[in-house]
Formats: sequence, structure tokens, C-alpha cells
Amino acid sequence: MSGPLVDSYGRVHKDLRVSVTDRCSLRCTYCMPEQGVPWLPRDTMLSTPELLRLAGVAVGLGIEEVRLTGGEPLLRRDLVDVVAGLAALDPAPEISMTTNGVGLAKNAQALKDAGLTRVNVSLDTLRRETFIELAKRDRLKDTLEGIEAAASAGLTPVKINTVLMRGVNDVEAVDLLRFALAHGYQLRFIEQMPLDAQHQWDRSQMIVGEEILSWLRTEFDLEPEPQESRGNAPAERFYVDGGPQTVGVIASVTMPFCGSCDRVRLTADGMVRNCLFATGETDLRTPLRDGADDEALADLFRASIGAKLPGHGINEPGFLQPPRPMSRIGG
Ligand code: GTP
Ligand code: 5AD
Ligand code: SF4
Repeated sequence: MSGPLVDSYGRVHKDLRVSVTDRCSLRCTYCMPEQGVPWLPRDTMLSTPELLRLAGVAVGLGIEEVRLTGGEPLLRRDLVDVVAGLAALDPAPEISMTTNGVGLAKNAQALKDAGLTRVNVSLDTLRRETFIELAKRDRLKDTLEGIEAAASAGLTPVKINTVLMRGVNDVEAVDLLRFALAHGYQLRFIEQMPLDAQHQWDRSQMIVGEEILSWLRTEFDLEPEPQESRGNAPAERFYVDGGPQTVGVIASVTMPFCGSCDRVRLTADGMVRNCLFATGETDLRTPLRDGADDEALADLFRASIGAKLPGHGINEPGFLQPPRPMSRIGG
């Protein structure tokens, strides 16, 4: 199969984010309403052999890391088989997962044994009442147990993703960092992006990276990591109190990192998205089910990347939130 996934701005794509389900066990306000959203019909969702076939094509195009996302990936019943199937690809990609941690305690070891290397877990608060307010479910304990089990199973480094919201959990920045440092987790604060199903994102309410850093600096000494070590990572990292532990800020809105983007996404219903904020997508499920060969599927991947825009446009006039919400993209 010829030609890596290079876009018209020279960005080489090595990271495939695969959403394995749009269902979720929580209802975080920055993602979906309490009543949920209409789920993707089962027959539109890729089976595991279909998903693995597309991942195999992507690996042939130079994809080196596959990140499993959701919804909540742990809700996919055969997730261990998905991981094992990815690990058996040639060449085998690095396999990681982004999860809310609920149910991870039960599965961490099996996932590790199947070939998962590391996890990023969302944790927005350490307070039970705030968790319930934010995620509409009483599951803080499950999340914390999941994080602990991931670390014990060696799914490391364990990264913690935190979205701060004004008046909800913004008083917890320092506490969350203390917690992460004490356990050896790598905490990253994420600016809230306009991807919620309710379309309620409000720039004036967003807590920006600079503000978070100023709160942390009241308690910690933060030294930026050298730019070279950032690579294509969305997080800008800082050594805390001389290191070696770090805290990160993913400032997607105020400090976009699109210029070094190496990501492409596959949705649970078999659409390729060349950007988190893409308004269009490329259907791979239909040709796959119609019998397309690997070369034809590879051409579709390449065509999607070829049409990628230079950036997300959130800060430009006329920006439109994509019709597909976060829970159906996977972040
Ligand atoms: P690492 O490889 O561990 O650094 O993973 P990651 O940080 O890329 O992945 P994760 O799923 O943990 O995402 C953390 C946050 O970054 C989420 O809010 C994602 O939506 C956001 N994010 C991930 N990739 C992109 C991207 O390409 N563009 C933008 N704007 N945000 C992204
Ligand atoms: N803005 C920023 N991050 C978000 N996440 C979910 N919705 C948003 C949003 N609107 C984060 C989750 C998870 C990751 C996949 O994306 O907290 O860690
Ligand atoms: Fe890549 Fe789009 Fe994210 Fe920018 S917003 S980094 S182009 S996925």
C-alpha cells in the first residue's frame, strides 16, 4: 500500500483515534445532557472484524498509535478482543485508551494482558457532591478505583484529564494537582471546547490555560518543559517544583496546536474525520460493507487527510460547531 497520510500542509498523520461506542456511563455537562442523546443504531456500528480491518489499513498507511475512545470505551463488551486484535496487526501499533474510569477496575489487567499500554482517565473533581453535579451519576468511587487499578496493572503513565468549569470545580485545581503528584499520575487541565451536544459552550465562561496556571503558581513552582520534548502532544507541560513530575495544560482554544496535528479519527459508525472540528466526514463503512479492497479503503483515508483544513477555526468569525457531538467523536 503506497503513500503515508500527509495532508496539504505537510502534516504526517501517525495517530488514529478510534471511537468504539457512543454510549457512556456518565453525563458530563460539557459533553451531553442528563437524558443522554439518541444513540447510534446498532447496525450502523462497526463490528470488531470491520474495525480491525480498517485499523489494519490505517497501520499500513503509517499509523503508529491507536487510541480507543468513546463515548465510554469500556461499555463495548468485546473491548478486550478489540485490543488483542489491534495488538496482532502488523506492524503492531501502540494501543492506548481514554476512559472515564468507571468499570476500569474490573478490566484493567485483562486489557493490559491483551496489549493495551496506557490510559488517560477523566477526573474533574475529588468531591462526591461535585461529581454528581457534574456527571449526573454517583460514580466518583468507581472512577478512583479504576485509576488505581490502571496504575497497579502497569497501564502507565496514567494521565488524568480535567476540565475545569467556573463555579463548579474551579476551586479544585490545586487539590487535583496535589492528588496527582501524591499518586504519580500525570495531570492535564483541558480548556473546554465547543463540542457539547447541547451547544451551550460559552467563550466568556471558559476557564483558560493561563488562568489555571496562575492558580497553580500560587502553590507550586512551574517550569515549562523544553519545546522539543512536546512533539505532537496537545499538552504543554510544566515541571512541578523542580520535577520530575509534570502538570499539563491542553489549551485547544487559546493556544491551538493544529500546526503539529498528527491525528485522524474513526467513529464507531465507520466515518473518518480529519479533525475534531471537521464539518464533513468520509464514509468507510458503506464501501467496506460493499466489498471494497484495502487499496480502495486506503485511498479514502488519504482523500480525507488531503481535505484537512489548517486548523479548527474556533477563534475565527463564522465558526460553526460540528454537527457530531463529543460523545460520538471521542475527543
Ligand atoms: P496523549 O497521547 O496521552 O497525550 O493523549 P491525548 O491527550 O492526545 O488524548 P486524550 O484523549 O487524553 O485527550 C485529552 C484532551 O485533548 C481531550 O479534551 C481531547 O479532546 C483533546 N484532544 C485530543 N486530540 C486533540 C486534537 O487533535 N485537537 C484538539 N483540539 N484537541 C484534542
Ligand atoms: N471540551 C474539552 N474536553 C472535553 N472532553 C469531553 N468533552 C470536552 C469538551 N467539550 C474531554 C473528556 C475526556 C476527553 C476525551 O475529552 O474529559 O477526558
Ligand atoms: Fe488537529 Fe483539528 Fe485538533 Fe487542530 S482541532 S489539533 S486540526 S484535530
